[in-house]
Parts: sequence; C-alpha cells; structure tokens
Amino acid sequence: MGLTFDLGTPVNTALFLYILYSVQRIIIPPTSKPATTPHEFKQGYSWKPKSHPPTVMFRTYTPKTLAPFNGLDGGRILLAINGTVFDVTAGRNFYGPNGMYGNFAGRDASRGMAKQSFDLDMLTPIDQPLDDLSDLRQDEIDNMKGWIDHFSNKYIVCGKLVNNDDI
Ligand SMILES: *[C@@H]1O[C@H](CO)[C@@H](O)[C@H](O)[C@H]1NC(C)=O
Repeated sequence: MGLTFDLGTPVNTALFLYILYSVQRIIIPPTSKPATTPHEFKQGYSWKPKSHPPTVMFRTYTPKTLAPFNGLDGGRILLAINGTVFDVTAGRNFYGPNGMYGNFAGRDASRGMAKQSFDLDMLTPIDQPLDDLSDLRQDEIDNMKGWIDHFSNKYIVCGKLVNNDDI
C-alpha cells in the first residue's frame, strides 16, 4: 500500500491519463479563441477579451481641470452638477460639441439644469469661485435634483468638483 501508482488495471491507467491531461490543461491552457464569445465560466476558462473597458477613476476636479473634458478633441466628456462630476461620454450626441447640451461639456451645469436653460450665461467662468446656487427657488432645486437622478442612472459618477484653490 502507500502512495504507489499501480498502472496494472485499465481503470487506474485511464484515471492516470486523465489526471495527466488535466494537469497539462492547467499548465498549458488552450489559447484558441472560441467561435462565439463565451458567456459562462466553463465555456471559456482561458479566453480573455482583447481589451477591457477603460477604468474610470474617481478624481477631484476644479473648474479649470474639468474644462478640457469638453469633447472637442473627440475625447471624454465630463460635466458637473451640484459638485458631482459625471462622465457623459456615452451621451456624446447630447453633450458633445454639436449636442443640444454641448455648452455644458467640461463645465458646472448646475444652474442651467436647475433653470432648464442651456445658454452660455448659465455658466460660471472657470476662473471664478463655484456657483453656490443659493438663489435657486425650490422648483429649480427640484429640477436640478431630477437631472442628478437621471445622470446617476445613466452615466458614471467619476469625481467631485471643488473650487480652483481647494486642490
Ligand atoms: C447639492 O449639494 C449639497 C451639498 O453637498 C447638498 O446638501 C444638496 O442636497 C444637494 N442638492 C441636490 C438637489 O442634490
């Protein structure tokens, strides 16, 4: 008895070969790409996608560091509402350079969202202190809250917005 392999019986031989095969699969996994994208673990243990979706990092932005994310270069589009920065790149048709909310790209959109106005005069110049929104009426605050809810459901929160000097 003990830890000796007895290859004398067909069952043991089959078992031994199966173990060898399994170990080989673990050490040298098959790398061929399956014909269809696997959806379950067992279908594609060693299959990897070519690239992963870009990772979104939570950052602190200021009006000046947020401004470049206006989509004009074809890159990411961010905007802030009430201090929360959203990545709205997926909504480029709305928030990109030619979108109806394009003025808000790279900016604090709070006042415009609250007043349902998408004009440039809703924006605070990026070298000024953040809009404190203290003059908003309750219905305007409710409007803004509606937009925050919409953005939270649809887009990714990727940071917070603070004053230029607070970073
Ligand atoms: C806006 O932000 C302030 C400070 O974080 C918070 O107290 C307020 O509830 C927010 N307003 C809305 C409409 O979310």
